[in-house]
Amino acid sequence: MRMAWRFLLPLGLVLGLVAWGTSPLLGNLIDRWLRNDVELRSQLVFYSVQDTVIRLAKEPLGLRLDTLFERLTRDERLLAVGLCAPDGRLLNHTPTWPLVLGCPASPPPPAPAASLPVPAYEIEYLGDGSLLIASFPLVEEGKDLGRLVILHDLSYIERRSTDLERYLMLFLGLLGVLVATLTAVVARLTLKGWVRQVRQSLASAAAGTAPERSSDPEITALVREAREALRDLELPRGLADAIRVDWTPESLRRLLRTELPEAQVIVVSNREPYIHVRGADGQVHVQHPASGLVTALEPIVRACGGTWIAHGSGDADAAMVDGQDHVRVPPEDPSYELRRLWLSDAEQDGYYYGFANEGLWPLCHIVFVRPTFRAEDWAQYEAVNRKFAAAVVAEARIPNPVVLVQDYHFALLPRLIRERLPEATIITFWHIPWPNPEVFGICPWREEILRGLLGSTILGFHTQFHCLNFLDSVDRFLECRIDREHSTATTGGQVTLVKPYPISIAWPPAALAGQAPVAECRAQVRAAHGLAPDSLLAVGVERFDYTKGIADRFRAVECLLDRHPEWRGRFSLLQIAAPSRSRLPSYRHTQEEALALAAAINQRFGDEGWRPILLVPRHHEPEEVFTLFRAADICLVSSLHDGMNLVAKEFVAARDDEDGVLVLSAFAGVSRELQEALIVNPYDSQAMAAAIHRGLRLPPEQRRERMRLMRGLVSEHNVYFWAARMLLTAARLRKRARIQAQIDAVTRPFPRDRRREARR
Ligand code: G6P
Repeated sequence: MRMAWRFLLPLGLVLGLVAWGTSPLLGNLIDRWLRNDVELRSQLVFYSVQDTVIRLAKEPLGLRLDTLFERLTRDERLLAVGLCAPDGRLLNHTPTWPLVLGCPASPPPPAPAASLPVPAYEIEYLGDGSLLIASFPLVEEGKDLGRLVILHDLSYIERRSTDLERYLMLFLGLLGVLVATLTAVVARLTLKGWVRQVRQSLASAAAGTAPERSSDPEITALVREAREALRDLELPRGLADAIRVDWTPESLRRLLRTELPEAQVIVVSNREPYIHVRGADGQVHVQHPASGLVTALEPIVRACGGTWIAHGSGDADAAMVDGQDHVRVPPEDPSYELRRLWLSDAEQDGYYYGFANEGLWPLCHIVFVRPTFRAEDWAQYEAVNRKFAAAVVAEARIPNPVVLVQDYHFALLPRLIRERLPEATIITFWHIPWPNPEVFGICPWREEILRGLLGSTILGFHTQFHCLNFLDSVDRFLECRIDREHSTATTGGQVTLVKPYPISIAWPPAALAGQAPVAECRAQVRAAHGLAPDSLLAVGVERFDYTKGIADRFRAVECLLDRHPEWRGRFSLLQIAAPSRSRLPSYRHTQEEALALAAAINQRFGDEGWRPILLVPRHHEPEEVFTLFRAADICLVSSLHDGMNLVAKEFVAARDDEDGVLVLSAFAGVSRELQEALIVNPYDSQAMAAAIHRGLRLPPEQRRERMRLMRGLVSEHNVYFWAARMLLTAARLRKRARIQAQIDAVTRPFPRDRRREARR
C-alpha cells in the first residue's frame, strides 16, 4: 500500500499541475465556442424573421410585430428584441428591452449599388461581456428600413465553462488514479515475481544447491553478484585456515586495516598487562603479571592498538594515570591505552576472590575443590560487570567497536554491552575449561551466566570439547535455538557463534630476545641454584594454583627417585611458583601442601650438596623464565585441568636449539596440539615418574625431532593466528550482516505478505 501511495501521490500531483496549468486555456476555448454559437443563432433568428419583420413593420400600430418579438424571446437566452428606425429611434421592442440602452449607434448606410447577399451586421458586447447585442440592417430594394436588434444574455456561458472545467479536472483526476492503480498493480506483481526469484536463488546458494536460472537476465546477473559477494565473505576464513600465512604483528595490522577498517578495538580483562608497584626503595617498578591471558593478549593489543580496560591492582597504579585513568603502554614503547578501573575492597572480595575465584574457577576446573557460591559475591560480580560495561561504553568512540571480552570474570559483560551498544562486535574468549551440564548446573545463577555470554557475537573456547559442553549447557538450561551444524546459539534474535580458537603465544616471543646461548643459560642456572654443572634439570613454571598439579609432580619426582635410584644426586626439579590469590584458603592450603611436600622429599632423598626439589615461591619476570626454560632438560606441565596452558608453548618457543623434552598433562588443552610431548596423567605419579625417566633418557635425535615438530606448530599457530582467525570471522559476520541488511531492504516482504506470514 505504501508503495501504491508512493506512486499515486506524485502522479496525482503531476496531473493536478497539468489541469491547473491548462484550465485558463480551456476556459478561453470554451468561452469562444459558446460566443460563436450565440452569434450564429442571432444570425439564424434574423434570417428566419427578416422578411416577416419588414412586412409587419409597415403596419401602422405594429401590434403583430410586438407579438412576433415576444414569441422570439421565449428562448430563455434571447433576452430582448427591438426595431430601430434609420434615425436611431426605438420603434418596437419587447418589454424585456433595457430602456437605458436605446438603439445602438448606426453603422454607415450601405452603398445604393451594393446588393450584398448577406447584409452586414454589428456585434457588440456590453458590461463584463455578459450581454451580446447583434444589430442587423433591414433593407428592402435598396432602401434602409432601420435595424433589427437582438440582445442575448450570455451569463450562462461563464457558468457553463466553469462547470466544464470542473468536469474536465475530475475526469483527468479519475483517469490518473486509474492509470496509477493499474501501473502500481502491474509493478507490484512484477516486483513480487522478481523478489521471489531473487529469494529462491539466494536460498539455493545458501543451501549449496544449483540455483534455477531466471528467465530475466538482469535478475540472473544480480543474483550472481549477491552470491559472489557472500562467497567472498567465506574466503578470508578459507585463507586463514588453508593458506599458510606467516602471522606476524604486521600481517595482523594489515588484516585489521583491510578487513575491519575504522574498527575501534577495546579489550576488557580483569588482570592488567602492566602493574605499577612501589618497591622497598620507594621507586615505581613495572611488573608483568603471571597470567596466560596477558601473555597471549598483550602482543595482540600492541599490534592492533586501541584501549585495554582492566582493574588497576598495583599499589602505584593510581599515581601513573592521567585524569581519565589512562596510561600509555608498553612503558618502553607506548602503542596503546591502558584504562584502569578501581575496585573497592568489598568489590574485590565479592567479585574477584568470591564469585570468580571461589565459584566459577573451581566450577570450571574439575579438580575436586568445592565451588562456593554466595549471594553477596554474586551481587558484587553483577555490580562490577556493570561497572566495566559502563567503562566500555565510555571508551567507545563509534557505535560498533570490536570489543574483546576476556575470561570468567566477565560472564555478564557481553549482554550488558550489547544492551547499550547493539551494533558492537563482541568477541568473548573463555580462557578456562567449560564443564559438562551436570557440573555447570550446580551454579545457582547458571541461566544468568549463559544469557550474559550469549550477548556475544563470537564466543571462543580453547577446544571443541569445551564448545560442546557450553552448547549442551545452553540446551539444558535455556530456551534457545541451537544449530550444531554451524555451532551457533540463538536467543532473542541474537546469534552467537561458538567456536574453538586455541590460544597461543607471540612468535618469536619478546622474552627470547637477548637470551644467552643455551649452554650459557644451563651453566648460569645451575650455578645460581647450587647444582652440579652436569646435573639434569626439570623445570616447572606456574602460579601457585591447585589446578596446576604442583604437589602431584613432586610426588612423581619422589616416585622416580624411589624406582630409579640412579637419578639421585644427578637430577633435580626446579619449580618456580608465583603466589596467586593467596587470600583464599584453598590457595594457601596449596602453597602449604607444596612447601611441606618439597621439604619432606628433600629431607628423604637430599644430602649436603643436592636437593631433588628446588621450590622458589616468588614472581619471576618473563626473561628469567625463558632463561630457565633454556637451561632445562625437561619442562613439566602437570595441570590437573587447564583450558590451554601457555607454559608448554613458551617452553617450546624458548628452545631455538631444538632440544629439551616436554612432559605434558593430558588434561591441559595444549595436549591436543603438542602431541609430540610425552603425554601423562598427572593423577598417576608412577606413570608421570616413568615419563620423566623416559624423558631424561630420550636420544638427542628423538628430542630434536619432537621439538622441531612442536616448534613448527607453535610458530605457525601463534597468537597472531589466533587473533586473526577470530577477527576474520568477526569481519565476515560484520560484512554479512551489512549485505543481509541491504538485501532485506530490497526484498523486504510487502506489508500484506508480512501480515500473512505472521498469521501462518
Ligand atoms: C588464568 C586466568 C586468567 C588470569 C590468570 C592469572 O590464566 O584464565 O584470567 O589472569 O589465571 O590469575 P590472576 O587471578 O592472578 O589474574
